[in-house]
Amino acid sequence: MCGQTFLYTDQHGFDGHKHKKSVEIRAIRVPRPTISQRARINIPRMTKKNLKFSVITLRDVEKSDLPIFFENQLDPEAIYMAGFTAKDPADRAAFDQHWTKVLADESIFIKTILVSGEVAGSVLSHCWFGDPEVSYWIGKVYWGKGIATRALKLFLEGFSVRPLYARIIIDNHASKRVLEKCGFVAHGKDQGFANARGMEVEEYIFKLS
Ligand SMILES: CC(C)(COP(=O)(O)OP(=O)(O)OC[C@H]1O[C@@H](n2cnc3c(N)ncnc32)[C@H](O)[C@@H]1OP(=O)(O)O)[C@@H](O)C(=O)NCCC(=O)NCCS
Repeated sequence: MCGQTFLYTDQHGFDGHKHKKSVEIRAIRVPRPTISQRARINIPRMTKKNLKFSVITLRDVEKSDLPIFFENQLDPEAIYMAGFTAKDPADRAAFDQHWTKVLADESIFIKTILVSGEVAGSVLSHCWFGDPEVSYWIGKVYWGKGIATRALKLFLEGFSVRPLYARIIIDNHASKRVLEKCGFVAHGKDQGFANARGMEVEEYIFKLS
């Protein structure tokens, strides 16, 4: 549960329990999306780096990842989707302050998502509202390829706290699908003030038992 000490090295399971043997972070092959899928959600053209198969890995966050996380959370569409963002996502000093706290907080379990070795985003569990919750954010260039789903599945394999919750604004359809595909079920509704929208919004609470 929250408050437990997590081990952050790849030599251990990342559920906070020491394992006798080293645990290898597993890689998953991700099929390239079809043209119609890409068109439907307006994915940028694949670059050389996004070849037919991508290998997804999770590792501890490194300081050099932070500028990429910062860029990711500047995208207006992503900000709108996530909703519960910083008051001013462009405020780098506030971002740095927040991340310094996050990385120092032993109750937060966080991993960087790598796609074929490149930093794509992050996935974390926190207890900011009492119950353990999961949250994730990936760069737009990686959207629509099943990356978030695969990354969350990997994360859940290594993070054993249950029940685990997630909150999403009710119109964040992509995130809803990610949760459903990872076994979360609708658990209730709540509402909260979304900085990104400057108003109270309805949110779904999802639960993984
Ligand atoms: C939400 C987010 C993580 C999704 O990442 P992703 O890698 O594109 O997700 P996946 O490809 O694994 O799955 C996306 C699913 O949503 C669907 N989807 C995408 N956009 C959609 C839309 N506008 N309407 C309905 N479904 C949509 C996809 O089709 C896919 O479902 P499917 O496999 O059943 O077809 C990513 O968009 C993001 O980081 N957004 C900004 C931050 C955020 O909202 N984080 C979540 C807050 S907890």
